[in-house]
Amino acid sequence: MSTLQLKHIDKRFGDTVVLRDIDLEAAEGEFVALVGPSGCGKSTLLRIISGLEPTTAGEIILDGKRVNDVSAAERGLAMVFQSYALYPHMTVYQNMAFGLENTGTPKAEIERKIGDAARMLQLDVLLQRRPTQLSGGQRQRVAIGRAIVRNPKLFLFDEPLSNLDAELRVQMRAEIIALHQRLKTGMIYVTHDQVEAMTMADKIVVLRAGQVEQTGTPLELYNSPQNRFVAGFIGSPRMNFIEAVVTARDGRGLTLALAGFEPQATINVAVDPAAAAHGTAVMLGVRPEHLEVAEGAGAPDTVTVQIAQVEQLGGHGFIHCTLPTSKRSLVVQFQGQIASRAGATVTLRIPPAACHVFSTAAGEPALPPLHGAG
Ligand SMILES: Nc1ncnc2c1ncn2[C@@H]1O[C@H](COP(=O)(O)OP(=O)(O)OP(=O)(O)O)[C@@H](O)[C@H]1O
Ligand SMILES: [Mg+2]
Repeated sequence: MSTLQLKHIDKRFGDTVVLRDIDLEAAEGEFVALVGPSGCGKSTLLRIISGLEPTTAGEIILDGKRVNDVSAAERGLAMVFQSYALYPHMTVYQNMAFGLENTGTPKAEIERKIGDAARMLQLDVLLQRRPTQLSGGQRQRVAIGRAIVRNPKLFLFDEPLSNLDAELRVQMRAEIIALHQRLKTGMIYVTHDQVEAMTMADKIVVLRAGQVEQTGTPLELYNSPQNRFVAGFIGSPRMNFIEAVVTARDGRGLTLALAGFEPQATINVAVDPAAAAHGTAVMLGVRPEHLEVAEGAGAPDTVTVQIAQVEQLGGHGFIHCTLPTSKRSLVVQFQGQIASRAGATVTLRIPPAACHVFSTAAGEPALPPLHGAG
């Protein structure tokens, strides 16, 4: 059981700044997901933790001790790569034994450890095969098995499931969750799949362009995204954004005129009225699952839009709408089944309590809720 702290980590390759002032804490046994778009620095950060890459500045603290100058081998962490990195000329058993033989582990102990890991990962009958004789999911299990037998202080995963098809991903996801519950070893798990992060992690760190945008539990990020980037990144389908202007303020919050609707739509939101002056341009955010199909037009907090497409999935579905006077589209998630078709108009209620209001700049913080509201 180990703890990890990163303090003010900077990383530059030449003049290129790849990571900037990264702080991160992983408690004992915690499952931490690092998410963010391609190129934001996830793999670089994981390689810095593992010891494969030096930092430009900042401290890496493992179990309370600074390990910046400790070699990768001596840090006692195990990394699982997207590419599996198995030795093609070795059997599954040899692939798993290789690292242990190098450190002089007695043969009987190697056999016992591989036996335990193979049972846990259902690799028992595959131990004499070579990687080319395995499916993608089986190879990924071998790569995980090789990490397990080393009994690491922490597991470091770099997009371990991204080479697998959708069904296998879901299955391996469940297996890694079960493995974490059983071993109780901390995991730092890199993914750009926010669904993976939401379903697996105790804590999610959202990175963008080498900086931490927000850290929190999956539901903290979903319920209270600190800025528009996090709001758009967490949640699937992604949050709808609608341009708006502040037209009135009072003790109950802000009145917003929403752009793109015909007739003109307004909505009252419980946002601290001190946060935005009259006439300020803002971005209203509302998740597809929070929009409601309403009965009649003209009721408060409703908008009328034309349906571009309806996706019926049986148990639930999606309505894609186009806004008449803007290029933006709006996605609505509904429960059950609906009769509406493409080309028809639909009235949607935007529940004020489910609204997020952001500054128009993507990285700027969300406007604070009215005190006592939300
Ligand atoms: N050795 C290197 N020299 C120069 N630039 C590098 C080097 N390694 C990575 N980079 C740059 O650092 C940035 C972050 O790369 P990194 O591999 O950490 O991203 P990532 O978040 O893992 O992306 P992906 O999701 O595509 O795997 C990228 O812009 C990349 O081009
Ligand atoms: Mg990467």
